[in-house]
Amino acid sequence: MLFGKKDIIGLDIGSKHIKVVQLKNNKDKFTLERLGISSLEPELIVDGSILDSTRVIDSIKELIESTDIQTKDVTLSVSGHSSVIIKRVSLPQMSEDELEESIRFEAEQYIPFDIEDVNLDFQILGLAETDNMMDVLIVAVKKDKINEYVSVVRDAGLEPVIVDVDAFALENMYELNYETSDESNVALVNIGASMININILKGGMSVFTRDSSVGGNLLTEALQREFTLSFQDAEKLIQEEEIEGVSKDEASAVLNSAFTDIITEISRSFDYFRDTTNYENIDEIILCGGVALTKNFVTLLSERVGIDAKIVEPFRNVDVPVSFDNEYINSVAPIVSVAVGLAIRRIGDK
Ligand SMILES: Nc1ncnc2c1ncn2[C@@H]1O[C@H](COP(=O)(O)OP(=O)(O)OP(=O)(O)O)[C@@H](O)[C@H]1O
Ligand SMILES: [Mg+2]
Repeated sequence: MLFGKKDIIGLDIGSKHIKVVQLKNNKDKFTLERLGISSLEPELIVDGSILDSTRVIDSIKELIESTDIQTKDVTLSVSGHSSVIIKRVSLPQMSEDELEESIRFEAEQYIPFDIEDVNLDFQILGLAETDNMMDVLIVAVKKDKINEYVSVVRDAGLEPVIVDVDAFALENMYELNYETSDESNVALVNIGASMININILKGGMSVFTRDSSVGGNLLTEALQREFTLSFQDAEKLIQEEEIEGVSKDEASAVLNSAFTDIITEISRSFDYFRDTTNYENIDEIILCGGVALTKNFVTLLSERVGIDAKIVEPFRNVDVPVSFDNEYINSVAPIVSVAVGLAIRRIGDK
């Protein structure tokens, strides 16, 4: 197109926060145009299922209005092990067109769902070590899940044009902001309220992905139980606000012990990765999602798994105009990392 590609917004619908990011592509650099986050009440989205679509739709509408976004085209994403399967497989060598024709047949044995119930996509990664074979990444997403998310986005007056997967959005966000090195393995770990998405990159290429259905809700619930608090008050404590009757030290002690469940889940995924790759090392963790902001979490994670962990910088390579409140952007950066990865997608890219 003569005037550059059409603008698209990245919309990440999480169970705790809906995030929207719009980036403008000037030559080789992206500039932040719009950013917004709105909080959802608990129980509207549970285990990735939208239980109260009316209120989710209203939230999306309000968010788009309050951020003054004019663009209608949206990239959205889905995740969760019960609806998304990502597999690296070895197939006989063939052209992209040939694979397009036969993907349903080839994928069937690798996908634990009925092949009629999923949308399939693939990427040829390269020739395999074995003769006449090639490595292919197959992605299967349940049609139900796509429809569920696409319809709330449509009902909010927007036009979904790309449906992505959280793990790949993280990878795109990472590529935009970090130098990839051939020697190192980097684990992108996104911890939201109800889900953990892990994508391990080897020399910048995804070699392992896994979604788990635990997240920051474990922290909120632990505080609620210990101090008999409402969900909202427990959230305030997590964000280091004052709550009558609970000291910060008491809250911190409960949180530190609740971290264990989240860290154990991450360790387990790393063990799977090592088991399936002849005990490869993980050199670094880049931590995304709201839980990355919880006090002491990064340090504890790093200590317990024995890997250097850093909080993601999703705007490291993005121009953020002075009209944005820089302090605010920094304070929410990990929360919008998936949305940044979605916002750089363009129709027809891969
Ligand atoms: N400073 C903070 N601000 C906001 N959320 C925080 C903060 N510190 C910790 N959290 C926790 O981060 C989680 C929300 O993160 P995020 O927005 O990434 O989740 P989500 O994408 O809405 O959820 P999911 O995708 O898992 O359904 C909550 O569990 C919240 O308690
Ligand atoms: Mg999320």
